[in-house]
Amino acid sequence: MTASLTRRVDELLAGAFAACGLPTETARASRASRPELADLQCNGVMPLAKAAGRNPRELAAAIATALGERAEFDEVGVAGPGFLNLRLSAGFLAECAAAQASDHAHAGIEQVDTGLVMLDFGGPNVAKPLHVGHLRTLVIGESLRRILDAQGVRTLSDTHLGDWGLQMGMLLSELRLRFPDQPPGTLPPLTEHDLQVLYPEAAAACRADPARMDAARAATAALQAGDPDAYKVWSELRRISLEAQTRDFDLLGAHFDLLLGESDVQPLIPGMIADLRERGIAVESEGALIVEVATPDEAKPMPPLLLAKSDGAALYATTDVATLLARKREHDPARIIYVVDQRQALHFEQVFRAARRAGYADGIELIHAGYGTVNGPDGKPYKTREGNAAQLSDLLGDAIERAAERLPETTPDAERETLARLVGLAAVKFADLSSFRTSGYIFDAERMVSFEGRTGPYVQYACVRIGSILAKAASQGASAGPIAVTAPAERALVLECARLPDVVASASRNLAPNEIADYVFALAQSFSRFYSECPVLAADTDAERGSRLALCALTRMVMEKALWLLGIAVPERM
Ligand code: ARG
Repeated sequence: MTASLTRRVDELLAGAFAACGLPTETARASRASRPELADLQCNGVMPLAKAAGRNPRELAAAIATALGERAEFDEVGVAGPGFLNLRLSAGFLAECAAAQASDHAHAGIEQVDTGLVMLDFGGPNVAKPLHVGHLRTLVIGESLRRILDAQGVRTLSDTHLGDWGLQMGMLLSELRLRFPDQPPGTLPPLTEHDLQVLYPEAAAACRADPARMDAARAATAALQAGDPDAYKVWSELRRISLEAQTRDFDLLGAHFDLLLGESDVQPLIPGMIADLRERGIAVESEGALIVEVATPDEAKPMPPLLLAKSDGAALYATTDVATLLARKREHDPARIIYVVDQRQALHFEQVFRAARRAGYADGIELIHAGYGTVNGPDGKPYKTREGNAAQLSDLLGDAIERAAERLPETTPDAERETLARLVGLAAVKFADLSSFRTSGYIFDAERMVSFEGRTGPYVQYACVRIGSILAKAASQGASAGPIAVTAPAERALVLECARLPDVVASASRNLAPNEIADYVFALAQSFSRFYSECPVLAADTDAERGSRLALCALTRMVMEKALWLLGIAVPERM
């Protein structure tokens, strides 16, 4: 692997800083705030001047002189109170572009080893179809998984299925009531739709009628006590519902290495509770078992984590602590990232603190990467016209249908369906990943599928267009040659491609796929300027054409990689 452009410039800066007797931590280049004056800038001299007892401008000038003699730079200037303005040489730019282009595996993205990262996202509940609320966890979670993967980080994704507890008892007792003649241990014939209405109806009935709630509690207890008939029906229900959910995962391209659920860790809970009691971490309070998680410095003390109620039923938080314990034992990850609704922030903080107190999370960095809601046109959480949470498959179907309407009439029938799906999904994902995850956004399918503006289809189309330029060149017998950077738009494009490694590192650090979305849009614009200012197929000379074709290929590779990081696939034609 060859070092990225920024990395190489940083090393040159560090050498010059060291030569002037300065520490090198701030010897870093960033994008120039005024691209007409420079390609990159370094703001690292000013903070060091005081300690060095020197005038910052003079110090910057000394560094500029040393760097200016090197072949990598055309010009190094000092601006303002001591900024360094770096103008890279055409030769160095061409060399970096060629190195990135030849890195087919990583497109220049720096490979790091941070230890195993587990990603917990998706998290559907049994017998509930995926709804609009699951869109974000799946899209953001999968993008983070890909970003880490592209950095060479080992990842394991798991979808903590909600497959245990009272909700399961509600389903089981509801089935018994509706199908009294059904032999025990077997599931009556249910369509997917039957299954979908079963849980909401059962839950409503239990809320309205204490006798139904008692029956649900009894069924839960039987299941948890290992009743074989209850277990058989439950596992059948789980299987059928997971089958439908997996279809949605596949449609969205969300990959799971593990499909574990709350039920998988239940066997650990009694031992865990005993351990916590013994060590005085779990204590009785008002008939329940709790873990104190407040810290002395908190103005508003955090409420304790409820470990077990008096009836001993499994709780969401207890299960999450046990899951942590299981993950530590089985995989010992360096980090676990939970991509779950921001509204569960308190829950995760309680779980994390309790697990740390217990020593269950030693050596594991725990992160709740929360996200905001998907909203309707009124700015409130998205609902269907009937006031229900919209089903994920309907929402995606809608976007795919609208995408189909916008495909050119010339699209062959055989390709329409696949293409509409690729474009519709790109539209939804790009829109979802466009703003920082904690802010909510308005789901506007019509705007998302547009080929104009900051949309998925716009970027996808830009990438396809580069592909067709390359195909056309190939059909004319023209091929890519050595890169030469002459026109300003070529320089800008090479610099933009070279940013990919920096953007990926930053998006990974901040768990912010929106940085990739911003980047890929900027790259598409940079290409579009290059293409209008620099004729490719109609270039003046063979050498110029060859170089520009190589730039097209580089851009296409970088753009495809960036889109892949967002979970967006690029069709062959559009
Ligand atoms: N099933 C949960 C819900 O519907 C989400 C699970 C998130 N992951 C976790 N480890 N708690 O709210």
